[in-house]
Amino acid sequence: MNKKDFPIFKNTKFYNKDLVYLDNASTTQKPQIVIDEYKRFYENYNANIYRGIYRLSEEATALYEESRKRVAKFINADFEEIIFTRNTTESINLLIYTFAKKNLKKEDTILLSVMEHHSNIIPWLILQKEIGFSIEYLDIDENFNLKNLEIIEKIKPKIISLCYISNVLGVKNDIEKVIKLGRKNNSYIIIDAAQAVSHISVDVKKLDCDFLVFSAHKMLGPTGVGILFGKKDILDKMPPFLGGGEMILSVSKDEFISKDVPYKFEAGTQNFSDVVVFKKSIDYLESLGMKKIEKYIKDLSFYTYDKLSEVPGIKIYGNRNEFGIYSFSLKKIHSHDISSFLDEDNIAIRAGHHCAEVLMKNLKVNSLSRVSIYIYNDESDIDKLSESLKNISKLF
Ligand SMILES: Cc1ncc(COP(=O)(O)O)c(C=O)c1O
Repeated sequence: MNKKDFPIFKNTKFYNKDLVYLDNASTTQKPQIVIDEYKRFYENYNANIYRGIYRLSEEATALYEESRKRVAKFINADFEEIIFTRNTTESINLLIYTFAKKNLKKEDTILLSVMEHHSNIIPWLILQKEIGFSIEYLDIDENFNLKNLEIIEKIKPKIISLCYISNVLGVKNDIEKVIKLGRKNNSYIIIDAAQAVSHISVDVKKLDCDFLVFSAHKMLGPTGVGILFGKKDILDKMPPFLGGGEMILSVSKDEFISKDVPYKFEAGTQNFSDVVVFKKSIDYLESLGMKKIEKYIKDLSFYTYDKLSEVPGIKIYGNRNEFGIYSFSLKKIHSHDISSFLDEDNIAIRAGHHCAEVLMKNLKVNSLSRVSIYIYNDESDIDKLSESLKNISKLF
């Protein structure tokens, strides 16, 4: 994979050292073709989409809709099933205030897991205060995998909302089995694929999930673009989320009529420039090929695990995984201190609770350090990380 395509590695040399960026689960760097697309768009196509009855606006609208088509193809969805939001968090919140609020009753149960990101816990807790339904959490076993999936048949959750790949443990959940069990019990299934879409080929038709959410910025794309996939027949029945702008067919003093999906969920001026640019990150990923990306990350992930394991005093919370996400503690050194020490070598990793406090409590830790790799990382990055961690370990 080609680091040269990502200008940040040429331009950013804190402390006169090359950047080793290992915080990719948080956000990814952008290749030149993505950066160039901003210039191309603003220099040639900028006008508000849908609103203008003139060529420029029509061209901007066509580019925006082209992105929707590309995203749909990337995850094997239909064009109308793709809604643009601001991020994964907003996609989940949209579901809470439209789909879940309409369908959940006090006596219902929903199922989450202890490894969920706060984005897939807090919105449910907010809605629970209003409606009063029960929330059950799948626990993890000693290998950090979800356990006791059979509980689905017992509690018959109305909605199951789970992450595909954990942003802390790097485990891939057996979503296929969850969906199979959920279907038997008429559960609706929401997949938080924020860490998955950049790492594995995702096919929503094959999965047969009802909803799937992710963020462009975690897959080489711009910030401010989230994606909500929903099955069309379910989206059709959902009320709008936000009101205003072009999401209506008509408005009177007393009522309004919404447009069809996906437009009824896209109120106000959309983040159209970022959506247009997003297409270029999909182009880039497709030019490499998701199968090749999977293999590259898998090999580097195993290498990373082995190198981390050599560091005296390290404890990795998770198994040798295929996705290059490893959370760890090092002796009794606080994760913030580890990050600061690594920063002196221009190595960027994440420290803290990783927006997963429920999991942190489950693991009986307050905070962890996290390394997460992506396609521009290579063995030399991991060697530098391992050397730097060994030096830190020696200090304590
Ligand atoms: C599994 C998971 N879900 C949700 C999110 C939230 O994504 P965003 O901040 O783009 O809304 C993240 C971000 O790290 C994540 O890893």
